[in-house]
Amino acid sequence: MNDRNMDFSPLIIGTMRLGRWGAGLKTQQLERFVNACVEMDLRTFDHADIYGDYTTESDFGQLLKNNSSLRAELQLITKCGIKLLHANRPDHTIKSYDTSREHILMSVENSLRNLQTDYLDVLLIHRPDYLLNPQQVAECFTELRDSGKVRAFGVSNFTPDQFDMLNTCFPLITNQVEISLLTLNPFTDGTLSRCMLNNIRPMAWSPVGGGALFKPSSDPAVQRIKMVGGELCEKYSCDLDQLLYAWLLKHPSGILPVLGTSNIERVRSARRSLDIRLTREDWYVLWSASTGEDVA
Ligand SMILES: NC(=O)c1ccc[n+]([C@@H]2O[C@H](COP(=O)([O-])OP(=O)(O)OC[C@H]3O[C@@H](n4cnc5c(N)ncnc54)[C@H](OP(=O)(O)O)[C@@H]3O)[C@@H](O)[C@H]2O)c1
Repeated sequence: MNDRNMDFSPLIIGTMRLGRWGAGLKTQQLERFVNACVEMDLRTFDHADIYGDYTTESDFGQLLKNNSSLRAELQLITKCGIKLLHANRPDHTIKSYDTSREHILMSVENSLRNLQTDYLDVLLIHRPDYLLNPQQVAECFTELRDSGKVRAFGVSNFTPDQFDMLNTCFPLITNQVEISLLTLNPFTDGTLSRCMLNNIRPMAWSPVGGGALFKPSSDPAVQRIKMVGGELCEKYSCDLDQLLYAWLLKHPSGILPVLGTSNIERVRSARRSLDIRLTREDWYVLWSASTGEDVA
């Protein structure tokens, strides 16, 4: 069964910046971070084979090796399909996408070994491979599901048409795309409506613009969002990060933000956004701050 109603945490913990591509957390620091997330009942972790140049999954796997009961408390998402040029993959001759059966199966075996688990909760195709053959991918997903190695499948960064093409052959559980006040196109290009039509929840990567909304910037959109956001933070007695998450959470598609922070206090802060209820008007105040104009 591809469980389309999988019970994800309302905020997903992204791992991209926890290891070599960011904070470089050592095993004990990572353990404290993960345990604190679990204590907050945030149990869904988003990986990809490539994070940390193919090292972050194994950093995380060390925790599961040291604590065998932890695995059952977590949901592990990982991704495959991007081939990076790196010394850790000397056989790759060009950066490319690969959704062949051989590559998907090999990538899943690597992820299972690195994460020290015998199943993945969710496998996502990381980017829309231009050579993707939906029937062949569906057969491969079926094989992985029937073997018990992967419970559910989805895609990432797929256009609505690309989503439909694969979803017609195999029921997908999500489309993980970039969504934030700095990236509005999923609201207008059919990405979110397609998820709603299929009764699945989208996942939002870079939900606070990769941190851009907290840094000094000459970008007029960032400046407007910060100015208007500051006023709304006073109204809702919250911080800017909480307002940004609450803005995503208000959408009826049930957006699941994938947090990128490696600071546990910022995860705690994000958790409080679940209690903020923006009015429709304030949602549009932020929309218009981003676009620089009123809606038509
Ligand atoms: N599917 C895909 O193609 C794809 C692509 C990119 C990412 N992802 C997934 O999405 C996750 C999130 O992406 P992201 O890291 O770009 O998301 P993000 O949460 O928008 O950005 C994270 C960055 O913002 C900073 N930040 C967060 N809250 C802050 C605050 N309150 N004040 C100041 N700085 C703050 C973080 O720094 P600190 O760590 O210092 O807090 C970090 O550098 C990744 O971990 C990964 O799992 C998926």
